[in-house]
Amino acid sequence: MGNHVSKDTSSLMRSQTSSGGYHGRRAGRNWGDSNRRKPWSTLSGPEFNIVHGRRYLATSSGKGHYPLPVDSQEMDRLEEQHYWMLLILKKNYALTMSEYNFRPQTILDVGTGNGIWLLEMANEFPEAQCVGVDFAPTFPTEILPPNCTFFLGNVLERLPFQDNTFEYTHERFLGLGVQRNQWPWVLAELMRVTRPGGWVEVMEMDGALLHPGVCGSKLNEWSATMRTDGENEEEECEEEEEEEVGGDLEGESLGKSAQSLHKAFLRQGFTQVSVHTVEVPLGSVHGRSGEMAARVIQGIFTGTRPFLDSAQWPQGVWDDFWRVWHEELSGSEGESKGPTSVRILMLFGQKPMR
Ligand SMILES: C[S@@+](CC[C@H](N)C(=O)[O-])C[C@H]1O[C@@H](n2cnc3c(N)ncnc32)[C@H](O)[C@@H]1O
Repeated sequence: MGNHVSKDTSSLMRSQTSSGGYHGRRAGRNWGDSNRRKPWSTLSGPEFNIVHGRRYLATSSGKGHYPLPVDSQEMDRLEEQHYWMLLILKKNYALTMSEYNFRPQTILDVGTGNGIWLLEMANEFPEAQCVGVDFAPTFPTEILPPNCTFFLGNVLERLPFQDNTFEYTHERFLGLGVQRNQWPWVLAELMRVTRPGGWVEVMEMDGALLHPGVCGSKLNEWSATMRTDGENEEEECEEEEEEEVGGDLEGESLGKSAQSLHKAFLRQGFTQVSVHTVEVPLGSVHGRSGEMAARVIQGIFTGTRPFLDSAQWPQGVWDDFWRVWHEELSGSEGESKGPTSVRILMLFGQKPMR
Protein backbone atom coordinates (compact mmCIF):
# COMPACT_ATOMS: atom_id res chain seq x y z
CA MET A 1 0.00 0.00 0.00
CA GLY A 2 1.20 3.50 -0.69
CA ASN A 3 1.76 5.63 2.36
CA HIS A 4 -1.07 8.04 1.54
CA VAL A 5 -3.73 5.36 1.21
CA SER A 6 -6.00 4.75 4.16
CA LYS A 7 -5.98 1.20 5.49
CA ASP A 8 -9.61 0.46 4.67
CA THR A 9 -9.26 1.42 1.04
CA SER A 10 -7.36 -1.76 0.24
CA SER A 11 -10.63 -3.68 0.34
CA LEU A 12 -11.94 -1.56 -2.53
CA MET A 13 -9.17 -2.61 -4.86
CA ARG A 14 -9.81 -5.48 -7.24
CA SER A 15 -7.49 -8.14 -5.90
CA GLN A 16 -7.25 -10.55 -8.79
CA THR A 17 -6.38 -10.02 -12.41
CA SER A 18 -7.32 -13.39 -13.85
CA SER A 19 -10.17 -11.88 -15.84
CA GLY A 20 -7.50 -10.19 -17.90
CA GLY A 21 -9.41 -6.96 -17.74
CA TYR A 22 -7.42 -5.05 -15.21
CA HIS A 23 -4.54 -3.05 -16.53
CA GLY A 24 -4.53 -0.40 -13.88
CA ARG A 25 -1.67 0.39 -11.57
CA ARG A 26 -1.75 1.84 -8.10
CA ALA A 27 -0.96 5.50 -7.68
CA GLY A 28 2.12 5.86 -5.53
CA ARG A 29 3.33 2.31 -6.18
CA ASN A 30 4.34 2.61 -9.80
CA TRP A 31 4.52 6.33 -10.24
CA GLY A 32 6.13 6.55 -6.84
CA ASP A 33 8.43 9.03 -5.24
CA SER A 34 10.32 10.14 -8.31
CA ASN A 35 7.14 11.46 -9.89
CA ARG A 36 5.30 12.58 -6.83
CA ARG A 37 5.43 16.31 -7.35
CA LYS A 38 3.37 16.53 -10.55
CA PRO A 39 3.23 13.19 -12.35
CA TRP A 40 1.58 14.57 -15.45
CA SER A 41 4.26 17.17 -15.91
CA THR A 42 7.25 14.91 -15.40
CA LEU A 43 6.38 11.68 -17.16
CA SER A 44 7.71 11.03 -20.62
CA GLY A 45 8.52 8.08 -22.83
CA PRO A 46 6.67 5.77 -25.16
CA GLU A 47 3.36 6.21 -23.34
CA PHE A 48 3.18 9.79 -24.62
CA ASN A 49 3.45 11.68 -27.91
CA ILE A 50 4.37 15.34 -28.09
CA VAL A 51 2.47 17.20 -30.82
CA HIS A 52 2.78 20.98 -31.27
CA GLY A 53 4.22 21.20 -27.77
CA ARG A 54 1.27 19.36 -26.16
CA ARG A 55 1.52 15.89 -24.65
CA TYR A 56 -0.92 13.12 -25.62
CA LEU A 57 -1.36 9.53 -24.56
CA ALA A 58 0.20 7.33 -27.23
CA THR A 59 -2.87 5.04 -27.32
CA SER A 60 -4.09 6.60 -30.55
CA SER A 61 -6.24 3.63 -31.49
CA GLY A 62 -8.17 0.86 -29.84
CA LYS A 63 -9.93 1.06 -26.51
CA GLY A 64 -8.99 4.25 -24.78
CA HIS A 65 -8.26 6.61 -27.65
CA TYR A 66 -8.39 9.99 -25.98
CA PRO A 67 -7.94 13.18 -28.01
CA LEU A 68 -7.27 15.65 -25.18
CA PRO A 69 -3.73 16.28 -23.99
CA VAL A 70 -2.27 15.14 -20.70
CA ASP A 71 -0.24 18.14 -19.62
CA SER A 72 -0.26 21.07 -17.24
CA GLN A 73 -2.23 23.29 -19.65
CA GLU A 74 -5.03 20.70 -19.75
CA MET A 75 -4.94 20.32 -15.96
CA ASP A 76 -5.43 24.10 -15.67
CA ARG A 77 -8.38 23.85 -18.08
CA LEU A 78 -9.91 21.08 -15.98
CA GLU A 79 -9.57 23.23 -12.90
CA GLU A 80 -11.33 26.14 -14.54
CA GLN A 81 -13.99 23.78 -15.91
CA HIS A 82 -14.59 22.46 -12.38
CA TYR A 83 -15.08 25.94 -10.91
CA TRP A 84 -17.26 26.91 -13.86
CA MET A 85 -19.55 23.95 -13.06
CA LEU A 86 -19.61 24.92 -9.41
CA LEU A 87 -20.54 28.48 -10.36
CA ILE A 88 -23.45 27.23 -12.46
CA LEU A 89 -24.74 24.37 -10.30
CA LYS A 90 -23.75 25.66 -6.84
CA LYS A 91 -22.85 22.07 -5.90
CA ASN A 92 -20.75 19.18 -7.14
CA TYR A 93 -23.51 16.75 -8.09
CA ALA A 94 -27.05 16.65 -9.39
CA LEU A 95 -28.22 13.72 -7.27
CA THR A 96 -30.73 15.01 -4.74
CA MET A 97 -29.20 13.18 -1.79
CA SER A 98 -31.49 14.70 0.83
CA GLU A 99 -34.59 13.63 -1.11
CA TYR A 100 -33.36 10.04 -1.04
CA ASN A 101 -31.99 10.29 2.51
CA PHE A 102 -28.65 9.25 1.07
CA ARG A 103 -25.19 10.01 2.41
CA PRO A 104 -22.55 7.86 0.69
CA GLN A 105 -19.84 6.09 2.66
CA THR A 106 -17.94 5.04 -0.48
CA ILE A 107 -17.55 7.33 -3.51
CA LEU A 108 -15.90 6.52 -6.86
CA ASP A 109 -14.96 9.11 -9.48
CA VAL A 110 -14.32 7.57 -12.91
CA GLY A 111 -12.10 9.57 -15.29
CA THR A 112 -11.05 11.69 -12.34
CA GLY A 113 -8.52 13.83 -14.26
CA ASN A 114 -6.70 16.10 -11.82
CA GLY A 115 -8.92 14.75 -9.03
CA ILE A 116 -10.34 18.14 -8.10
CA TRP A 117 -13.95 16.91 -7.87
CA LEU A 118 -13.00 13.97 -5.65
CA LEU A 119 -10.88 16.12 -3.35
CA GLU A 120 -13.87 18.39 -2.76
CA MET A 121 -16.13 15.39 -2.14
CA ALA A 122 -13.60 13.99 0.35
CA ASN A 123 -13.92 17.28 2.22
CA GLU A 124 -17.72 17.38 2.04
CA PHE A 125 -18.03 13.71 3.07
CA PRO A 126 -15.15 13.22 5.52
CA GLU A 127 -16.60 9.91 6.71
CA ALA A 128 -16.64 8.49 3.16
CA GLN A 129 -13.84 6.56 1.44
CA CYS A 130 -13.27 8.48 -1.79
CA VAL A 131 -11.58 6.78 -4.74
CA GLY A 132 -10.63 8.23 -8.12
CA VAL A 133 -9.65 6.27 -11.21
CA ASP A 134 -8.21 7.43 -14.52
CA PHE A 135 -6.26 5.76 -17.30
CA ALA A 136 -3.76 8.61 -17.29
CA PRO A 137 -1.64 9.46 -14.24
CA THR A 138 -3.09 12.95 -13.94
CA PHE A 139 -4.30 12.76 -10.35
CA PRO A 140 -2.36 14.01 -7.33
CA THR A 141 -0.22 11.55 -5.41
CA GLU A 142 0.69 13.61 -2.39
CA ILE A 143 -0.92 15.79 0.26
CA LEU A 144 -4.11 13.79 -0.04
CA PRO A 145 -6.82 13.79 2.60
CA PRO A 146 -6.73 10.48 4.51
CA ASN A 147 -10.05 9.36 2.98
CA CYS A 148 -8.95 9.88 -0.62
CA THR A 149 -6.97 7.69 -2.99
CA PHE A 150 -6.43 7.23 -6.72
CA PHE A 151 -5.91 4.29 -9.06
CA LEU A 152 -4.99 3.81 -12.68
CA GLY A 153 -7.65 1.96 -14.65
CA ASN A 154 -9.55 2.02 -17.94
CA VAL A 155 -13.33 2.10 -17.85
CA LEU A 156 -13.48 0.82 -21.45
CA GLU A 157 -11.74 -2.35 -20.33
CA ARG A 158 -12.55 -3.21 -16.73
CA LEU A 159 -12.32 -0.99 -13.68
CA PRO A 160 -9.93 -2.34 -11.04
CA PHE A 161 -12.65 -2.81 -8.41
CA GLN A 162 -14.79 -5.68 -7.28
CA ASP A 163 -18.50 -5.85 -8.03
CA ASN A 164 -20.87 -3.99 -5.68
CA THR A 165 -18.17 -1.84 -4.04
CA PHE A 166 -19.30 1.81 -4.09
CA GLU A 167 -22.43 3.54 -2.88
CA TYR A 168 -22.04 6.50 -5.22
CA THR A 169 -20.28 6.18 -8.60
CA HIS A 170 -19.71 9.36 -10.54
CA GLU A 171 -18.26 10.33 -13.90
CA ARG A 172 -18.03 13.77 -15.45
CA PHE A 173 -16.94 14.90 -18.91
CA LEU A 174 -15.54 11.60 -20.04
CA GLY A 175 -17.36 12.16 -23.33
CA LEU A 176 -14.41 12.66 -25.66
CA GLY A 177 -13.00 9.34 -24.49
CA VAL A 178 -16.22 7.41 -25.08
CA GLN A 179 -17.81 6.85 -28.48
CA ARG A 180 -21.57 6.66 -28.59
CA ASN A 181 -21.72 2.91 -29.02
CA GLN A 182 -19.45 2.46 -25.98
CA TRP A 183 -21.84 4.10 -23.51
CA PRO A 184 -23.75 0.87 -22.75
CA TRP A 185 -20.45 -0.76 -21.79
CA VAL A 186 -19.44 2.21 -19.64
CA LEU A 187 -22.80 2.29 -17.85
CA ALA A 188 -22.61 -1.46 -17.27
CA GLU A 189 -19.18 -1.02 -15.73
CA LEU A 190 -20.34 1.88 -13.53
CA MET A 191 -23.28 -0.25 -12.44
CA ARG A 192 -21.13 -3.32 -11.79
CA VAL A 193 -18.90 -1.56 -9.26
CA THR A 194 -21.88 0.14 -7.55
CA ARG A 195 -23.65 -1.54 -4.66
CA PRO A 196 -27.28 -2.58 -4.98
CA GLY A 197 -29.26 0.43 -3.79
CA GLY A 198 -26.34 2.75 -4.63
CA TRP A 199 -26.41 5.57 -7.19
CA VAL A 200 -24.63 6.29 -10.47
CA GLU A 201 -24.32 9.84 -11.80
CA VAL A 202 -23.10 10.98 -15.20
CA MET A 203 -22.51 14.58 -16.24
CA GLU A 204 -21.64 15.40 -19.86
CA MET A 205 -21.40 18.42 -22.13
CA ASP A 206 -23.12 18.31 -25.48
CA GLY A 207 -20.71 18.11 -28.37
CA ALA A 208 -22.73 20.67 -30.37
CA LEU A 209 -23.21 24.32 -29.52
CA LEU A 210 -26.75 25.65 -29.63
CA HIS A 211 -27.49 28.68 -31.88
CA PRO A 212 -23.99 28.76 -33.38
CA GLY A 213 -22.79 31.53 -35.66
CA VAL A 214 -20.33 30.92 -38.51
CA CYS A 215 -17.40 30.04 -36.25
CA GLY A 216 -19.67 28.13 -33.88
CA SER A 217 -20.87 26.01 -36.81
CA LYS A 218 -17.26 25.20 -37.66
CA LEU A 219 -16.76 24.11 -34.04
CA ASN A 220 -19.82 21.88 -34.32
CA GLU A 221 -18.36 20.32 -37.47
CA TRP A 222 -15.10 19.60 -35.67
CA SER A 223 -16.95 18.23 -32.71
CA ALA A 224 -18.93 15.85 -34.92
CA THR A 225 -15.73 14.44 -36.36
CA MET A 226 -14.68 13.51 -32.81
CA ARG A 227 -17.75 11.37 -32.21
CA THR A 228 -18.42 9.26 -35.23
CA ASP A 229 -17.84 5.63 -34.22
CA GLY A 230 -21.06 3.71 -33.92
CA GLU A 231 -23.13 6.81 -34.56
CA ASN A 232 -25.20 5.35 -37.38
CA GLU A 233 -25.96 2.26 -35.40
CA GLU A 234 -27.01 4.37 -32.42
CA GLU A 235 -29.13 6.68 -34.51
CA GLU A 236 -31.06 3.76 -35.95
CA CYS A 237 -31.86 2.66 -32.41
CA GLU A 238 -32.89 6.18 -31.49
CA GLU A 239 -35.29 6.47 -34.39
CA GLU A 240 -36.96 3.21 -33.45
CA GLU A 241 -37.45 4.13 -29.83
CA GLU A 242 -37.82 7.88 -30.01
CA GLU A 243 -41.39 7.80 -28.82
CA GLU A 244 -40.63 5.41 -26.03
CA VAL A 245 -38.25 7.41 -23.87
CA GLY A 246 -36.70 10.83 -23.87
CA GLY A 247 -39.32 12.35 -26.15
CA ASP A 248 -39.61 15.27 -23.78
CA LEU A 249 -36.01 16.34 -24.35
CA GLU A 250 -35.46 18.94 -27.04
CA GLY A 251 -32.42 20.13 -28.89
CA GLU A 252 -30.53 18.74 -31.78
CA SER A 253 -27.28 17.07 -31.00
CA LEU A 254 -27.47 17.35 -27.25
CA GLY A 255 -31.04 16.16 -27.31
CA LYS A 256 -29.75 13.07 -29.03
CA SER A 257 -27.05 12.56 -26.43
CA ALA A 258 -29.51 13.09 -23.61
CA GLN A 259 -32.02 10.75 -25.18
CA SER A 260 -29.54 8.03 -25.93
CA LEU A 261 -27.92 8.27 -22.49
CA HIS A 262 -31.34 8.26 -20.86
CA LYS A 263 -32.27 5.17 -22.84
CA ALA A 264 -28.96 3.53 -22.03
CA PHE A 265 -29.60 4.15 -18.29
CA LEU A 266 -33.03 2.54 -18.56
CA ARG A 267 -31.79 -0.36 -20.66
CA GLN A 268 -29.04 -0.98 -18.16
CA GLY A 269 -31.71 -1.48 -15.52
CA PHE A 270 -31.25 1.60 -13.36
CA THR A 271 -34.34 2.75 -11.47
CA GLN A 272 -35.36 6.28 -10.38
CA VAL A 273 -33.58 7.59 -13.48
CA SER A 274 -33.52 11.36 -13.59
CA VAL A 275 -32.30 13.65 -16.40
CA HIS A 276 -31.51 17.35 -15.98
CA THR A 277 -30.15 19.77 -18.53
CA VAL A 278 -28.84 23.29 -18.20
CA GLU A 279 -28.02 25.66 -21.07
CA VAL A 280 -25.13 28.03 -20.50
CA PRO A 281 -24.67 31.04 -22.82
CA LEU A 282 -21.10 31.63 -23.95
CA GLY A 283 -19.04 34.79 -23.98
CA SER A 284 -18.06 37.55 -21.61
CA VAL A 285 -21.29 39.45 -22.35
CA HIS A 286 -22.94 36.73 -20.24
CA GLY A 287 -20.84 37.44 -17.18
CA ARG A 288 -18.30 35.33 -15.38
CA SER A 289 -19.94 32.01 -16.31
CA GLY A 290 -20.06 32.91 -20.03
CA GLU A 291 -16.46 34.06 -19.96
CA MET A 292 -15.30 30.84 -18.28
CA ALA A 293 -17.44 28.71 -20.61
CA ALA A 294 -15.91 30.26 -23.72
CA ARG A 295 -12.40 29.75 -22.36
CA VAL A 296 -13.08 26.15 -21.35
CA ILE A 297 -14.53 25.30 -24.76
CA GLN A 298 -11.74 27.07 -26.63
CA GLY A 299 -9.37 25.00 -24.48
CA ILE A 300 -11.06 21.77 -25.56
CA PHE A 301 -10.66 22.58 -29.25
CA THR A 302 -7.13 23.86 -28.76
CA GLY A 303 -6.30 20.58 -27.01
CA THR A 304 -7.80 18.44 -29.76
CA ARG A 305 -6.30 20.54 -32.57
CA PRO A 306 -3.98 17.80 -33.90
CA PHE A 307 -7.13 15.81 -34.76
CA LEU A 308 -8.96 18.68 -36.51
CA ASP A 309 -8.76 19.90 -40.09
CA SER A 310 -7.36 23.14 -38.70
CA ALA A 311 -4.22 21.28 -37.68
CA GLN A 312 -2.53 22.58 -40.83
CA TRP A 313 -3.69 26.16 -40.43
CA PRO A 314 -0.90 28.68 -39.88
CA GLN A 315 -0.94 29.95 -36.29
CA GLY A 316 -2.16 33.39 -37.42
CA VAL A 317 -5.26 31.91 -39.09
CA TRP A 318 -5.99 29.84 -35.98
CA ASP A 319 -5.65 32.89 -33.70
CA ASP A 320 -7.90 34.93 -36.03
CA PHE A 321 -10.54 32.22 -35.94
CA TRP A 322 -10.78 32.49 -32.17
CA ARG A 323 -10.80 36.30 -32.23
CA VAL A 324 -13.75 36.22 -34.65
CA TRP A 325 -15.49 33.56 -32.54
CA HIS A 326 -15.32 35.77 -29.44
CA GLU A 327 -16.69 38.69 -31.50
CA GLU A 328 -19.46 36.41 -32.70
CA LEU A 329 -20.32 35.51 -29.11
CA SER A 330 -20.46 39.18 -28.12
CA GLY A 331 -22.78 39.91 -31.01
CA SER A 332 -25.15 37.02 -30.46
CA GLU A 333 -26.93 38.51 -27.49
CA GLY A 334 -30.39 39.74 -28.35
CA GLU A 335 -30.73 37.65 -31.50
CA SER A 336 -34.14 36.03 -31.61
CA LYS A 337 -32.71 32.54 -31.92
CA GLY A 338 -30.90 33.03 -28.62
CA PRO A 339 -27.27 33.28 -27.65
CA THR A 340 -24.73 30.64 -28.58
CA SER A 341 -24.87 28.21 -25.68
CA VAL A 342 -23.62 24.86 -24.51
CA ARG A 343 -25.91 22.37 -22.89
CA ILE A 344 -24.82 20.32 -19.90
CA LEU A 345 -26.67 17.14 -19.15
CA MET A 346 -26.81 15.33 -15.85
CA LEU A 347 -28.28 11.89 -15.30
CA PHE A 348 -28.51 9.77 -12.23
CA GLY A 349 -30.11 6.45 -11.42
CA GLN A 350 -30.20 3.83 -8.70
CA LYS A 351 -28.91 0.26 -8.97
CA PRO A 352 -31.80 -2.03 -8.03
CA MET A 353 -31.53 -4.00 -4.80
CA ARG A 354 -32.41 -7.26 -6.65
C1 LIG B 1 -12.21 16.01 -19.59
S1 LIG B 1 -11.39 15.10 -18.36
C2 LIG B 1 -12.52 15.27 -17.00
C3 LIG B 1 -11.86 15.07 -15.67
C4 LIG B 1 -12.80 15.11 -14.45
N1 LIG B 1 -13.82 14.10 -14.55
C5 LIG B 1 -13.43 16.44 -14.29
O1 LIG B 1 -14.62 16.59 -14.50
O2 LIG B 1 -12.69 17.39 -13.92
C6 LIG B 1 -11.66 13.42 -18.83
C7 LIG B 1 -10.79 12.45 -18.06
O3 LIG B 1 -11.20 11.12 -18.38
C8 LIG B 1 -10.06 10.30 -18.53
N2 LIG B 1 -10.41 9.17 -19.37
C9 LIG B 1 -10.75 9.20 -20.68
N3 LIG B 1 -11.02 7.97 -21.12
C10 LIG B 1 -10.86 7.13 -20.06
C11 LIG B 1 -10.99 5.73 -19.89
N4 LIG B 1 -11.34 4.94 -20.90
N5 LIG B 1 -10.76 5.20 -18.66
C12 LIG B 1 -10.38 6.00 -17.64
N6 LIG B 1 -10.24 7.34 -17.73
C13 LIG B 1 -10.47 7.90 -18.95
C14 LIG B 1 -9.01 11.22 -19.14
O4 LIG B 1 -7.69 10.76 -18.91
C15 LIG B 1 -9.32 12.54 -18.41
O5 LIG B 1 -8.57 12.65 -17.23
